[in-house]
Amino acid sequence: MRFDIITIFPGFFASVFEYGIVKRAQAAGLVEIHLHDLRRWTSDRHRTVDDRPFGGGDGMVLKPEPIFAAVEELTGAGRRTDLPARTRVVLLSPQGKPLTQALAAELAASANRLVVICGRYEGVDERVAEALATDEVSIGDYVLSGGEPAAVVLVDAVVRLLPGALGSATSAAHESFAAGVLDCPHYTRPAEFRGLRVPEVLVSGHHARVAAWRRKEALRKTWRNRPDLLERAPLSDEDRRLLEEIRREEQSA
Ligand SMILES: C[S@@+](CC[C@H](N)C(=O)[O-])C[C@H]1O[C@@H](n2cnc3c(N)ncnc32)[C@H](O)[C@@H]1O
Repeated sequence: MRFDIITIFPGFFASVFEYGIVKRAQAAGLVEIHLHDLRRWTSDRHRTVDDRPFGGGDGMVLKPEPIFAAVEELTGAGRRTDLPARTRVVLLSPQGKPLTQALAAELAASANRLVVICGRYEGVDERVAEALATDEVSIGDYVLSGGEPAAVVLVDAVVRLLPGALGSATSAAHESFAAGVLDCPHYTRPAEFRGLRVPEVLVSGHHARVAAWRRKEALRKTWRNRPDLLERAPLSDEDRRLLEEIRREEQSA
């Protein structure tokens, strides 16, 4: 998978991809990350990338010409309809579709090239969303100052889903959202810390009981923190029974 990140602040990414799974994925040749300074595609003396909004109002808007030129040079296509197969152009925007695990998995599975456009100021001239971007993506319902932190989130979420990126020790299949619910709680040594003990079952060595406990606690965590997920999660009859049990336990706690 090749990422091309278009930004007015390439220095922002100086070391951010040099850690953990993303670093290893690059070293293993699974991923290439290329940073591009948007100002490279300007033609005036001041290397202008922004201008005042039509219709008036506060702030500045990123101009369309350098962004279209950048994507055109990088992909050979100046319109989303002309992009090569398996190439996606992602415009980061709080107005975009939410970045979910499902979207990250879809991008990891279906694309081999992601061009990522980072906005700034009041945002990006809408013609980029209308004619150039294949996807307009938001990392959450809040407004950042720029698309750069969102690009880091997107790259990380996609890279860890590429086959081979996590290695055999870990699997994305058990992580939060993969099966529609949150992950279960995790504990490590010491078994007792400042009077806080890890659940007894986890040190029992009884694999079936550990698995049952994990499922129930994953459901409990989801019920407590993200009940909205339970409305769409594929739940078995046993899960529903466990949820009833959890409700009773939580009400009497
Ligand atoms: C200050 S924001 C623009 C906000 C825009 N005026 C609005 O209210 O929708 C500047 C840039 O930050 C990025 N950004 C901000 N919040 C984001 C989010 N939740 N997800 C993805 N990108 C975001 C986008 O690239 C955006 O163009």
